[in-house]
Amino acid sequence: MTTSTGHLLKDCGTQKNSSTFRFFPVLNDLEHNNWLSAGNRIRNNTAEKYFSADTLQDKIVRAIIKERAINIKEILEAFEFFAQIRKKLKSKCVVDLCCGHGFIGLLFAIFERKVEKVILVDKIEPPSRQKLINCLTEVAPWIAPKIENRSESIHSELNWLKGGSTIVSAHACGTLTDRCIELAINCKGNIAVLPCCYPDKACPAPQAIGLALGNDVAFDIDRTYRLSNAGYHVRWQHIPRIITPKNRILCAYLNK
Ligand SMILES: C[S@@+](CC[C@H](N)C(=O)[O-])C[C@H]1O[C@@H](n2cnc3c(N)ncnc32)[C@H](O)[C@@H]1O
Repeated sequence: MTTSTGHLLKDCGTQKNSSTFRFFPVLNDLEHNNWLSAGNRIRNNTAEKYFSADTLQDKIVRAIIKERAINIKEILEAFEFFAQIRKKLKSKCVVDLCCGHGFIGLLFAIFERKVEKVILVDKIEPPSRQKLINCLTEVAPWIAPKIENRSESIHSELNWLKGGSTIVSAHACGTLTDRCIELAINCKGNIAVLPCCYPDKACPAPQAIGLALGNDVAFDIDRTYRLSNAGYHVRWQHIPRIITPKNRILCAYLNK
């Protein structure tokens, strides 16, 4: 680490670690909200109740629930991650790494006109991906020509990755998130990650930081310095904690 840790450490204690729902403000005032984080699929009548508007986002939620493509936690996680990062990160090409169903990348294809190509990368393409693409294409047919699927490991060279591409990744397990950061730095692209598990032994930060602030914070401080030292502006943002406790976003961009 080449810059002072002082202000960063202070921020860890004071920074709020959740946010309100941006795409779906109706969910901010719910009395019973456990169903938002459940891995279960929600019923059509719940969808009708909370996602009944004539907006594109509500139409999308209804379509996904009707087809049972992915569950409500995955839907909200992707929407709220996207809501936090979309302004800083849109570019012609968006690459969703360790994408699974690929919904984060697909949201860029749906909502951002400037985004011409979305590349969905995972070592395995789950069946939910095509199911999701099919029902999104019904609601937003303009996404079809933008989508490219690639089944490969992010540890391979990825020499197709073009300079200036935006990289996004939600819950790339452990050090896969670090590989995403490395790829973004190499291609001089903006990046947002929503890390999940933080393996104790792999934490590159000094042990004192982990002991004082927790392994997850230590890991993300180290990632923040890595990006900052590579010339990025880095922000810590959050999605609503009710969706998942692994809700910290590291958003890093090269242009102000
Ligand atoms: C926890 S899931 C997250 C999936 C998705 N981003 C989401 O938000 O639901 C992690 C994903 O990483 C993928 N993965 C694991 N190792 C990988 C690798 N070396 N290269 C590419 N993808 C990998 C898995 O197949 C899995 O889909």
